[in-house]
Amino acid sequence: MPRLKILSKEVSLTEKVPRGAMLLDILRTAGHEMYTPCGGQGTCGKCRVYVRDRGYVTSCLFPVMEDMEIVLPEPSEASIMAEQYAHTRQLPADPGPSARLSAHPYGVAVDLGTTSLVFHFVNLMTGALVETRAILNPQAKYGADVISRINYCVLNPQGARILQQEIINTVNAELLRFAGNAGTGKTDVVRICFTGNTTMLHILLGVDPGPIAYVPFTPAFTEEKILRAADLDLECHPGGEVKILPSLSAYIGSDIVAGIASLKPSTAHKNYLFLDLGTNGEMALCTPDRIYCCSSAAGPAFEGANIEHGMGAAEGAIMSYDGPGRFRIIGDTRPTGICGSGLIDLVAWLLAGGRISGDGYMAGDFIIATAAESATGQAICLTPKDVREVQLAKSAVASGINILLSHAGLSADQIDALYLAGGFGNYIRPANAASIGLIPRELCARAMPAGNTSGTGALLSLRSVSFDGILEEILSRMKNLELSDHPDFVMQFAMNMEFHT
Ligand code: FES
Repeated sequence: MPRLKILSKEVSLTEKVPRGAMLLDILRTAGHEMYTPCGGQGTCGKCRVYVRDRGYVTSCLFPVMEDMEIVLPEPSEASIMAEQYAHTRQLPADPGPSARLSAHPYGVAVDLGTTSLVFHFVNLMTGALVETRAILNPQAKYGADVISRINYCVLNPQGARILQQEIINTVNAELLRFAGNAGTGKTDVVRICFTGNTTMLHILLGVDPGPIAYVPFTPAFTEEKILRAADLDLECHPGGEVKILPSLSAYIGSDIVAGIASLKPSTAHKNYLFLDLGTNGEMALCTPDRIYCCSSAAGPAFEGANIEHGMGAAEGAIMSYDGPGRFRIIGDTRPTGICGSGLIDLVAWLLAGGRISGDGYMAGDFIIATAAESATGQAICLTPKDVREVQLAKSAVASGINILLSHAGLSADQIDALYLAGGFGNYIRPANAASIGLIPRELCARAMPAGNTSGTGALLSLRSVSFDGILEEILSRMKNLELSDHPDFVMQFAMNMEFHT
């Protein structure tokens, strides 16, 4: 009988379990409350747990065959997942004709993020989500943001080809790994749907992304693309369908279009704001007639870049801050740095205590964790330059929101909901985000996490061809606003640099 080690915030226990028993059943028998909105059908993906050395698995579909260690989500994380599910569109399973290419067809939804890649592997016969994997984007060594990647392509004759090969190799490694683990043939994967920002999609197809970085910011394509897997040398069925979901503009990619389309807003939400704070700050103000969108060059400060002890939301990151010695760390470890949500809490706390002034002045470094407390043996601090980076990032986002509001002729108190997309959105405390001026105060109580909406959009597209019509309808209402030459942007940006204490 395999030995299963179950780790959670409250307990750590090891027990012998019947070989082949479903992980969800084992956890329930052991007394763990699991959130299973689809009733264990394998379609909602909300019962997932982390298996060490393997990644996230869908526990209702996962038989335990060998010794393993699993990490249960914290209750707060489970309630975030429940809330996200409530805002996600549900569609009937209908993957389209490519599912007929195999007797046991599988598909993969891939969210190509600038920092990380998320894969959802789906059994297309049942619609069940078999596995979800998130890995770092291997292109990161060519630059943290899209502009550095574009520069690499512009300055190197083979640049676009090299970056394309990085992605293809990584997707292929995941396809082969999945086929090995699931015991299927690689040709059983017959459909792949990609979402991503416009630059990532150009690179995926080996198309020069150069024009995206320069006025008038005209990408080579924004429309949906359908290819055969053999066209990209993907390790799956050569005739399998590869779908690249449509984008709107140079900086509003299919990650945003599909993300908005994946939402099922409450009928009470007439006007709502969608905010995706990733490596850039993309946002959309959805009204019954129009969807006004823009991308603000917020830079990756909230992902830890340009912050002295900044880091992404990974193990060891300080994810929340309530005062000296009162911080929470991701994982059961000492802190190694601070991630975006912790940074917002910290700056809000320093502002409230008068240690940062309205113009962003801070007298010297502020020690968050001492050398003795940290995992690195070095003190973790916030520097005056970090505060400046936060000001630049929050001003870019706040200015974008104000410009969207003015185009829609609305004020912040007329916005019914704020959907915060991306992992970062799960952990932001809206009150602190409002204190530093990142979001309007009126939206504090109306903010809700929406999860990785880009990945969810890719997943919906993979499972159901009826998502195409929804995408089309959303795209027809979208209007892109270019902030870099917007007449109000400079004034807005200058005004929003201040902290309103
Ligand atoms: S309970 Fe829905 S996927 Fe497992």
